[in-house]
Amino acid sequence: MFVCVCAGITQQQINNAVTRGARTVDQLRSQLNVASGCGMCLEDVTEQLSHHSTHTAAEFTDAAASC
Ligand code: FES
Repeated sequence: MFVCVCAGITQQQINNAVTRGARTVDQLRSQLNVASGCGMCLEDVTEQLSHHSTHTAAEFTDAAASC
């Protein structure tokens, strides 16, 4: 499913970029050119980043709790 129609960027491509270390919209923009056109995808891109950071924080907390 396309998140950014202007750049032809899918949710999977954003997930892959986040897995490789992208943590901000600017980082995703420089890597994928996402949210560089009309801006209609900006909210979705931001939401995906937030979703990933929430999961990462939760996984970190879970890992720390098991130590
Ligand atoms: S849909 Fe992403 S910039 Fe237009």
